[in-house]
Amino acid sequence: MTDLAAVDFFSDPAVSQDPYEYWDYLRQQGPVTREPHYGVVAVTGYQEVMAAFKDHQSFSAVNAIGGPFPPLPFTPEGDDISAQIEAHRHLFPIYEHMVVMDPPAHDKARSLLSKLLTPRRLKENEEYMWKLVDSSIDAIIDKGRCEFLTEYAKPFATSAIIDLLGVPVGDRPEFLAALGAERPEGNRVGALDGEPVGLDPLQYLDDKFVGYLAERRRAPQDDVLSGMATAVYPDGSTPELIEVAKPATFLFAAGQETVTKLLSAAVQTLGDRPEYQQMLRDNPGRIPTFIEEALRMHSPTKIDFRLVRRTTTLGGVHLPAGTIVMLCLGAANRDPLKFEDPHEFRPDRKNVREHIAFGRGIHTCAGAPLARVEGQITVRRMLERMSDIRIDESVHGPAGHRSYTYEPTFLLRGLTQLRIEYTRSA
Ligand code: HEM
Repeated sequence: MTDLAAVDFFSDPAVSQDPYEYWDYLRQQGPVTREPHYGVVAVTGYQEVMAAFKDHQSFSAVNAIGGPFPPLPFTPEGDDISAQIEAHRHLFPIYEHMVVMDPPAHDKARSLLSKLLTPRRLKENEEYMWKLVDSSIDAIIDKGRCEFLTEYAKPFATSAIIDLLGVPVGDRPEFLAALGAERPEGNRVGALDGEPVGLDPLQYLDDKFVGYLAERRRAPQDDVLSGMATAVYPDGSTPELIEVAKPATFLFAAGQETVTKLLSAAVQTLGDRPEYQQMLRDNPGRIPTFIEEALRMHSPTKIDFRLVRRTTTLGGVHLPAGTIVMLCLGAANRDPLKFEDPHEFRPDRKNVREHIAFGRGIHTCAGAPLARVEGQITVRRMLERMSDIRIDESVHGPAGHRSYTYEPTFLLRGLTQLRIEYTRSA
């Protein structure tokens, strides 16, 4: 039996396989409580996580991805460390990407992204995805079995973003290969070996996009990349090419692994609970709620970090400036004060859309509409084209005694593999 008081969330392999018991333990200590190893303050209460997300004046996103890794590059002084954060910002992991920016830089980066993610673009991308889902299923259907992550989810999630960004068709295979879409391990972040997130793992994409955008600025075409290349800031000024490329390339980091995890959690649930398959076939209108419940139960982004910029309190706990705060999304989504029987998968849960798997506040997930559609159409077409979806018992064991392994990272929650079997619909 694990001694929960001694657990090191950041390196304990058992907790990376099942964080829920540990989070329940932490919440019993209080919704805002300090963990013993790094002095990180863990927030497991729904209300408290929500409050921190919404208060970007007190909570900086500068360490959103790395948290305590690497350690702060300065010693916090006083009750307001805003100036220290700005002076050292370039030393934080992926500092050039919007997810770790604070206003006003964040507003500017997000404004460029909103020029790309227009309702029209999302609609066109959805039309592409309906074709993609069918061609992806075509490739696996006759085999009667597959490893769902590598043979469907990862290439699907990556192709969806490649299309969203309007990457020229001829270049798409190179992107798929470079992004590790077919490699089981993908591009892992938040590994338990203490390896900090690299300063910029997205260099390949930056170079490709700067190249595309430079070409389009010289000679605009009627395509998505030209729209991006000619986008301007709200004040009318023209961004540097790299400032346009960054929000675009970050979509791969944000939307590839997370969506893979959502799709595999949804299909795992269908395999483990066969009764849902006919229910959703008979009532496809219930698929969106099913996907929301999968997001709540299996929140792909387990945690998110913030750095206390100005001394404040959260849930009645005093937080001096410089405190590293770990917002446990997966725990908040199972807070019994918010969700009844939180560890139960309920495909018709009334308040399920209040989950915070996509975060909240100014950094709320920009790709949430896309992720939702990816989940919904995958489930819909799989159920239409497969008459039954089964978990491969030779790999995962029989019902009631399943064995699943989850990626050994503290940041994300997702299966390492999902072997399924199915029968083609007549
Ligand atoms: C199920 C899939 C997904 C989950 C669970 C998820 C989760 C999240 C979360 C929790 C955040 C907030 C981070 C923070 O506040 O520190 C976030 C931000 C973001 N996500 Fe997602 N995401 C998903 C899919 C996507 C997709 C498909 C895209 C784009 C194609 C995307 C693009 C972004 C971007 C650009 C941000 C940064 C927004 C900002 O800083 O303003 N995400 N996501």
